[in-house]
Amino acid sequence: SKKAFIFDLDGVIVDTAKYHFLAWQKIAKSLNINFTHEDNELLKGVSRVRSLDIILGLGNVQATQEQKDQWLIQKNEDYLSYLVDMDESEVLPGVLKILKLLKDKNQGIALGSASKNARPILEKTGVLSYFDVIVDGNDVSNAKPDPEVFLKAAQLLNIDPKNSIVFEDSVAGIQAANIAEMVSVGIGEETILHEADHIFKDFTQIETSFIEELIG
Ligand code: BG6
Ligand code: MG
Repeated sequence: SKKAFIFDLDGVIVDTAKYHFLAWQKIAKSLNINFTHEDNELLKGVSRVRSLDIILGLGNVQATQEQKDQWLIQKNEDYLSYLVDMDESEVLPGVLKILKLLKDKNQGIALGSASKNARPILEKTGVLSYFDVIVDGNDVSNAKPDPEVFLKAAQLLNIDPKNSIVFEDSVAGIQAANIAEMVSVGIGEETILHEADHIFKDFTQIETSFIEELIG
């Protein structure tokens, strides 16, 4: 039957998580805040505004809204500078095979991302045309772990949340999928994503038979 397959973007389709980290680290360094890879896990899947608040919280830094807006602009400009040369080669291993399989099987395919930069990234990496529906940071008001982004995607595909599957690399995203009562598939480390219904190190580990079983 027709199911909704909803993909997160950063860290799932493309390895942009590393660029987000580098850009945030620059801001943190300029404020003398110690910001580690471990801290960065808390930022995955989280909106830009909330991410800054988390970083400022780590350093106990207070700031005016004006200052914060300035840092948000700076972070995004820096982040975008890493994306200038982005192309098809940055699509993570195994992703295209799964997207093609789902298209062949006439499944609903959606993007469910917190990023406001989602569309240009999908375009640059050549995968935009696979997606029937795109819900991103410009379309939602509640950030993951709120399930709004995934519920909206399923609704636009006209498919019940219970018939929806979410691929996520973030704890907040897995929680959002679980709250939406969707099947959650974690892409990454088992120790971090243990709340997911299924966990794979990356898309190369996902067998065709696993997808076929999900389709049912
Ligand atoms: C999420 C990323 O997908 O999007 C976060 O995991 C990021 O790290 C968030 O902060 C917002 O992205 P952007 O591109 O709008 O700053
Ligand atoms: Mg992600």
